[in-house]
Amino acid sequence: MHSKRLILPLLVLASAGGVLLAQGPPPPPPPLIQPPSPPGNPVTLAKTNLGKVLFWDEQLSSNRSMACGTCHVVSQGGSDPRTHAANPASANAGPDGQLGTSDDILGSPGISRLDAAGNYLLDPQFRLQPQVGTRRAPSVLNAAYVPQQFWDGRAQPQFVDPISNNVILQAGASLESQVLGPPVNSVEMAHQHRDWNQVAAQIASSLPLRLSPSIPAALASWINGRDYPALFQEAFGTAGVTPVRIAEAIATYERTLWTGQTPIDAFFGGQQNALTPQELAGQAVFTGPGQCVVCHVGNLFTDHSFRYTGVRPPAEDEGRFAVTGNPGDHGRMKVPGLRNVELRAPYFHNGRMATLEDVIEFYDRGGDFNAPNKDPAIHPLNLTAMQKANLAAFLRRPLTDPRVAQASGPFEHPALFSGSPLVLQSFGQGTSGVAGVVPSMLALEPAYAGNARLTFALDHARAGRIAALVVGNGSIVNGTPFFGTDLYVDLAQTHSLVRVPALAGNGDSGGYGSTSIAIAPDPLLVGVPLFAQWIVFDSTPGVRFAATAPVGGVRF
Ligand code: HEC
Ligand code: HEC
Repeated sequence: MHSKRLILPLLVLASAGGVLLAQGPPPPPPPLIQPPSPPGNPVTLAKTNLGKVLFWDEQLSSNRSMACGTCHVVSQGGSDPRTHAANPASANAGPDGQLGTSDDILGSPGISRLDAAGNYLLDPQFRLQPQVGTRRAPSVLNAAYVPQQFWDGRAQPQFVDPISNNVILQAGASLESQVLGPPVNSVEMAHQHRDWNQVAAQIASSLPLRLSPSIPAALASWINGRDYPALFQEAFGTAGVTPVRIAEAIATYERTLWTGQTPIDAFFGGQQNALTPQELAGQAVFTGPGQCVVCHVGNLFTDHSFRYTGVRPPAEDEGRFAVTGNPGDHGRMKVPGLRNVELRAPYFHNGRMATLEDVIEFYDRGGDFNAPNKDPAIHPLNLTAMQKANLAAFLRRPLTDPRVAQASGPFEHPALFSGSPLVLQSFGQGTSGVAGVVPSMLALEPAYAGNARLTFALDHARAGRIAALVVGNGSIVNGTPFFGTDLYVDLAQTHSLVRVPALAGNGDSGGYGSTSIAIAPDPLLVGVPLFAQWIVFDSTPGVRFAATAPVGGVRF
């Protein structure tokens, strides 16, 4: 393997003859090989399987609504397909707090703001809706080659136990370090002040991938009905479900997500016809007048450095500076690798470039902002329309591993609960209260048998009122007048009515609250319908009630 790596570039260079040398492009790098793992955490099949289960398990988050895979869909380029301009739920208002301005960010919807008991808290921008962070999710594909994780590189190669603070892995473990972030981050996966003991305890008592509507056969047969402690026993030798092991297993799975079967790998390996003439012309722009190789170099198309390229004013996101405190690092972001880049639009850390063509135009005009530390390689390029089109062609097929979009091999993965038909669906309509406002309901959590805390939230109600969540096994599809309210839950079958004493918030439409029900761990409940609707009581003459549209689905 090693001798092959050394010889191949020389062969390619020799066969290309003096023309290549005369124009001066660097010799082709070797094709990609399996990423390294830290000596203390070698890749094994059991650990990979366990990591895959954990990565796709929404039970890793406080309210069981977010997995790593929610924001990093491996089969869609390893980033978040929910992030795009047409999805208002993926917008963050940015430093000015105003939506619709140039500092807005397109990011990943995470978790709603929750207190430690799982009750909803009001967020100034998102109210009760899932919060969106201030950066777009980078790809987890090939992250195993990245020395320091995150756009600013703050996840370090040395891995430290979050409970004991002991150093567990000396080097090469930025993936393990990275895992420690999201499960306790109150915008991504956690209720306020969640700690790693709570994360590990919740996993230990959860059934592996209980919420997934479909698990690849090989993984399902590996799980084979076992609980998490049994899976940890196989992967680590003993049954302890610890934070360190959760991080080590997930990092191990990520080390299998490398994409070395692209046309460019064949080309680097000496197969000259692996690229079309247009793609070759695009490569010549990439390495020539486009100057892309100054930063996007080697077989990963990155030198892993941090650069300020003029995507935004540095003050909007200080980037690398937050880690180093070095003024020269203001606004610098990590140079992302470009493998599979066509699968993960939109682009840049703020998600503000919708297409690769937009990115190319950005570079062609020399970036959008200036700062003293702007990289000298970013300046107007004056590329022709043909050069731009060729460059775009080079960034697409040659850099894309077809197994990713096909979700085959290591990229096959369990389906998520979120987005599946298992999520309770809104139907019918609500009834307005004072000021004509129809209150709204949020029901994002899984209605599975054994969920001891299934929380429903209510918003845009009249503050200070008493509200009740009506939960039933049946619905009256067309609604029946109930003191002037379209009530869809069949009261004859109602098994619970949960009152919220006085809604928090202000005004006729700023009231909010939440409450939870428990679904017994009874297999007989699987398949039993579940309907829920909020009623807000009001003493105003002629109003009396307001109601949300109901939600319905089945327990699973
Ligand atoms: C709510 C969405 C969300 C969830 C959930 C989430 N991530 Fe991320 N991930 C992001 C964002 C956003 C970033 C970039 C953050 C930054 O740079 O500050 C990121 C960065 C990363 C990176 C760094 C990649 C690089 O090239 O620097 C890795 C690896 C990663 N996440 C893995 C995971 C794992 C593993 C989990 C689960 C334990 C997870 N993520 C959960 C959104 C998410
Ligand atoms: C000076 C270094 C530098 C040069 C030169 C450069 N890039 Fe980049 N590139 C970056 C950095 C840094 C980012 C991330 C910027 C950000 O998000 O703020 C990036 C991001 C990208 C992205 C978006 C990837 C993603 O996942 O968001 C693409 C595509 C890209 N570059 C292509 C190119 C092309 C094509 C060229 C040549 C025309 C080029 N780059 C030249 C440093 C560079």
